[in-house]
Amino acid sequence: MNKQKLIGPFKQLLTMNVLPLKGALSDSQLQIIENGGLLVSEEKIVATGLYESLKKDHPKAEMFELKGDHVCLPGFIDAHTHICFGGSRANDYALRNSGKSYLEIAKAGGGIWDTVTQTRLASKEQLTISTIKLANRHLKNGTTTLEVKSGYGLTVAEELKMLQAIQDANALLKTDLVPTCLAAHMLPKDYDGNEVAYLEEISTLLFPKLKEQQLTNRIDAFVEESAFSVAQITPYFSKAKEMGFNITVHADQFTTGGSQVAVDFNAISADHLEASTEKEIELLAKSNTIATALPGASIGLGCNFTPARKLLDAGATLAIASDHNPGSAPMGDLLTQATILGTFEKLTNAEVLAGITVRAAAALNLNDRGKLTEGQLADFNLFHTDNYQEILYNQGNLKPCMVWKKGELVFNKHKA
Ligand code: NIG
Ligand code: FE
Repeated sequence: MNKQKLIGPFKQLLTMNVLPLKGALSDSQLQIIENGGLLVSEEKIVATGLYESLKKDHPKAEMFELKGDHVCLPGFIDAHTHICFGGSRANDYALRNSGKSYLEIAKAGGGIWDTVTQTRLASKEQLTISTIKLANRHLKNGTTTLEVKSGYGLTVAEELKMLQAIQDANALLKTDLVPTCLAAHMLPKDYDGNEVAYLEEISTLLFPKLKEQQLTNRIDAFVEESAFSVAQITPYFSKAKEMGFNITVHADQFTTGGSQVAVDFNAISADHLEASTEKEIELLAKSNTIATALPGASIGLGCNFTPARKLLDAGATLAIASDHNPGSAPMGDLLTQATILGTFEKLTNAEVLAGITVRAAAALNLNDRGKLTEGQLADFNLFHTDNYQEILYNQGNLKPCMVWKKGELVFNKHKA
């Protein structure tokens, strides 16, 4: 039998188990084990329970006995990022803060296109290295699973380069990266043709290569007036579905339309939703599509938040992700952003924490993580406190003191 490890005792162990997937949550629904422990074998959790009982029942387990008070939570899952890119958009940020809008800057040649230009100039190896650096920063802050999109290549070859860089980074990282193809991010300015021709080219030439090289099983698109319309994206998503890809959508960021497409295609998630109205909220609430709020984009652009409270009250599943990207969301701090969303949208601790753990796992279609129960991956964070409420109360300033990934201690603040 493999050597088992017993980790604890934790003043509070929040399993994030037995929570409904959809709708509002109260803190009294949180399953909290006082003086809990985790028994781990290789990469998985074997048992969750009272530390002293686990110790008695498993005397041969290797003990990892903690001193002081700790709260244990599942590793965070960031279900939407764009951390593979070249260059910086600090100038865009300065321009926005001096009064120019995101869309005006994009029209003037800044915005996403600027990052495309800089990403194309980077080699695959350079992109691998920069992705690793950012993913490791997220890991120290407790993110043990991280979605990463392409979308700054915008040709078949350049999108492949990005997705290969993400694949190479994944092989070298402790964090699990979940890659997504976002070739439909915008019509490339140097493309000789219209949106329909571009999407046709991508679906015909790139999709089969994604399958062959096992680069991703997820297709995303930016459905927006400034990017792709509902009519343009419909055949693209049909093709993706036919080929067995999962769909996710950048929806309702500035104008509506995207969430309807997401629901029509039974997308795993519809992300952004800052512009969603009652109609879109109802639509999402009745569907299986997870609503992913991206507070980092609201903070980065200085605009309104996703109507998270309304989505939850209507019965939707709410995940919260950082959208970390060089343009609209440069901060890249999931816990801080989730906390801030909570204060503006009046979300309970349970809703915020579920949004970055168990509900975020669902937004990536992963059922082996996001909660701390038998059979789940041993991905968890420890915080130096005796009360889980302190975590959000500190508004992102209380970072994990230890991060465990697949049963291995991968970050220890005391040794950093
Ligand atoms: O999710 N909205 C479109 N795409 C990204 C931003 C990308 C960028 O500005 O570079 C987003 O916010
Ligand atoms: Fe995004």
